[in-house]
Amino acid sequence: MRILMISAEAAPFAKTGGLADAVSALSIALHKLGHDVCIVMPRYYKINRENLTQLPGPMCVHCGYREEWTAVYTTDMPGEKGLPVYFIDHEGCYGRDGVYGVPSDTDFKDNPTRFSLLCNGAFQLCRKIGWYPDIIHAHDWSAALSTVLLRFNERHDNFANTKSVFTIHNLGYQGVYNKHNYSILSLDWNHFYSSGLEDYDQINFLKAGLISADALTTVSPTYAREIQTPENGFRMDGILRARSNDLYGILNGVDTDVWNPSKDSFIAKTYTAKTIKNKVENKKALQARMGLEVNPDIPVIGVVTRLVDQKGIADIFAPAYGCAYKLCADMRLQFVVLGSGEKWCEDELRVLSNNLPNFAAYIGYDESLSHLIEAGSDFFLMPSKYEPCGLNQMYSLLYGTLPIVRRTGGLADTVQNYNQETGEGTGFILDNLTPSSIYDTVGWAMYAWYNKPEHIANMRLRGMKQHFGWDVSAKKYLEIYEKLLK
Ligand code: ADP
Ligand code: GLC
Repeated sequence: MRILMISAEAAPFAKTGGLADAVSALSIALHKLGHDVCIVMPRYYKINRENLTQLPGPMCVHCGYREEWTAVYTTDMPGEKGLPVYFIDHEGCYGRDGVYGVPSDTDFKDNPTRFSLLCNGAFQLCRKIGWYPDIIHAHDWSAALSTVLLRFNERHDNFANTKSVFTIHNLGYQGVYNKHNYSILSLDWNHFYSSGLEDYDQINFLKAGLISADALTTVSPTYAREIQTPENGFRMDGILRARSNDLYGILNGVDTDVWNPSKDSFIAKTYTAKTIKNKVENKKALQARMGLEVNPDIPVIGVVTRLVDQKGIADIFAPAYGCAYKLCADMRLQFVVLGSGEKWCEDELRVLSNNLPNFAAYIGYDESLSHLIEAGSDFFLMPSKYEPCGLNQMYSLLYGTLPIVRRTGGLADTVQNYNQETGEGTGFILDNLTPSSIYDTVGWAMYAWYNKPEHIANMRLRGMKQHFGWDVSAKKYLEIYEKLLK
């Protein structure tokens, strides 16, 4: 099967969150199963052209009335020969820092143009390389327009039998813009409503994908149910209920070539379930690197996150009511936080770090530290408001680090709650997102750490034995592709 992945992010080239990991890992898994897969994404300014090969000649892409001239670069996915990634190069659209925006301007005004270029460019790319997909698989709002273009403009000749799949990685980001941008999307005004783009007289890219794609997926079974309710539907629950027969929840996997404690080159000492005693070397290295007291007896709680509302950060870190200060003051534990995002939270983390001896934060994006935190922590806190899938709780399980999570979305699908009587479970679950319930659940985990060490040890091993292979998920996507092509 020929599958074209369209995405604003793909690891290791550009990543702001789990989307990048998921797109690359799914593509690799499908390729390993013998399918002809390629990825198309923008060449952001940070992606060095010197490591890429330029396709001969320019590529002209029509975005409505605008004619954009681009170059196309390519390279194979690192470690996966024969899986090409194509980069659309356009100085005006992508020659700057940031995927969707930068901290001072988190949503670029010209994002409609930038992602219209990506989606229109994807079709033009196929014509340029003479390769036509059976399936166009678009990820998140920034690629959603491709499903609309297929449905209303492109489904003839070489694309006559092409079908589209739209994956919702996060319903909270929809790409809503002024409707004057409609004229650069390459769609006739007749389709303003029928495409799903119209949203209270604005345009909404995600909504258009929900209406126009042949099949919809999201990244965990629980999230697939949650988004059909008004509480978690971000105004799209009605559409999602109407399309519930075409909506599938498929849990993301983990790329165990990258996230694997037995061969992780970012960590101080590798380990397996059999050599789990070596995990403590990572804890010591982490404590030392973060300037905390180096002491294996003190439980370390790790956090790696985008500092945004979705992740429940206010309930942990808000100066007025968050629970971090009280946890650090009341309990013998250490906090290690890696994150970047909302300015108030970054500032608050610096304050906590400066004032508490057992709280250390690194503000920024740091791949290697994120691995060391997974390996060196005893617990990993993720009290998300909502979580489509979540990757870090799965990484934590595989690294023998016990997740403390809220019962929502993919977190609910991957973590089993601790049973204090039997010792069963793989982590600690809270239901209400409030500072006091985070405080109580962390307190419960600390109780187990100090009083039930054998339970903690067994839970770790149980977590490390879990299988989150992409092979399983990739086969589920294939079933959907096959159904569409029948
Ligand atoms: P989301 O995509 O909503 O941010 P996920 O749990 O799916 O949540 O994925 C987050 C990914 O981004 C993980 O691979 C995590 O390690 C990584 N990540 C998030 N923030 C940082 C950071 N500050 N430094 C390094 N990696 C980070
Ligand atoms: C989104 C979600 C996250 C998910 C990731 C990859 O960013 O917030 O829960 O794991 O996409 O699908």
